[in-house]
Amino acid sequence: MITTSKIRQMKAEGTPITMITAYDAAMAQMVDEAGVDMILVGDSVGNVLLGYNSTIPVTMEDMLHHTKAVCRGTKNALVVGDMPFMSYQARMSEGVANAGRFLKETGCTAVKLEGGASVVRLVEKMVAAGIPVVGHIGLTPQSFNQLGGFKVQGKDAATAQKLLDDAKALEAAGCFAVVLECVPALLATKVSKELTIPTIGIGAGNGCDGQVLVCNDLLGLNAGFTPKFVKKYANLHQNVVDAVKEYVSDVQSRQFPAAEHTFKIDEEVLEKLY
Ligand code: KIV
Repeated sequence: MITTSKIRQMKAEGTPITMITAYDAAMAQMVDEAGVDMILVGDSVGNVLLGYNSTIPVTMEDMLHHTKAVCRGTKNALVVGDMPFMSYQARMSEGVANAGRFLKETGCTAVKLEGGASVVRLVEKMVAAGIPVVGHIGLTPQSFNQLGGFKVQGKDAATAQKLLDDAKALEAAGCFAVVLECVPALLATKVSKELTIPTIGIGAGNGCDGQVLVCNDLLGLNAGFTPKFVKKYANLHQNVVDAVKEYVSDVQSRQFPAAEHTFKIDEEVLEKLY
């Protein structure tokens, strides 16, 4: 079972860290078997599985439900539960209690939350309570209304400096890793070099200590827009459509179910029926 110390050790040794999202036990089993180091039960479940157009509507109950399922399917990877919008922003005590619910009720090892300086005191409290925390800065999708959309962050000197300061503040507060989302590659490389904790990049180039992708993006499971930073390793959307088309056609032409899919009964038994 991968621990937070193992993740920190991987950075120290220069071993790239792999992270991927999963939202249910079946996907968790597959990505765990493939050897991923960390599984993030992202609040991206809202867009990816639940049909919302942002992560804003996702609730604590949604996240606990999906994180429990992922933990049931995982043997080796470190599972991180993502704190949804308004589960930690209003009151610090509520944030710590909600982070605690992830560990107590789902069996995951750590939580992730979005924000830099604004969440530092909260992170300190969580860490003091024994809860491992992953930070998340750069493009923070829960604030997309405030950021004015899904844009690359830290492109000018002021915002780049703020990103570096936020990363250092999260490290000082006790985060064991920090996600950098949609950040210019050279800035992410600088942040990664300055921190002793690992950076996990998504749209942040090759200089991060690890990488994370949304499983449905990597597998090509969802149709529609694919962000520039995604590499599609499969086109499962088309595979599923083709397979289901074949099933529909087999049922309509009575080719399915065939003899090998069918249970038998002795004819004498049928003859006894009246
Ligand atoms: O919710 C999510 O999937 C995430 C990743 C994009 C890092 O936060």
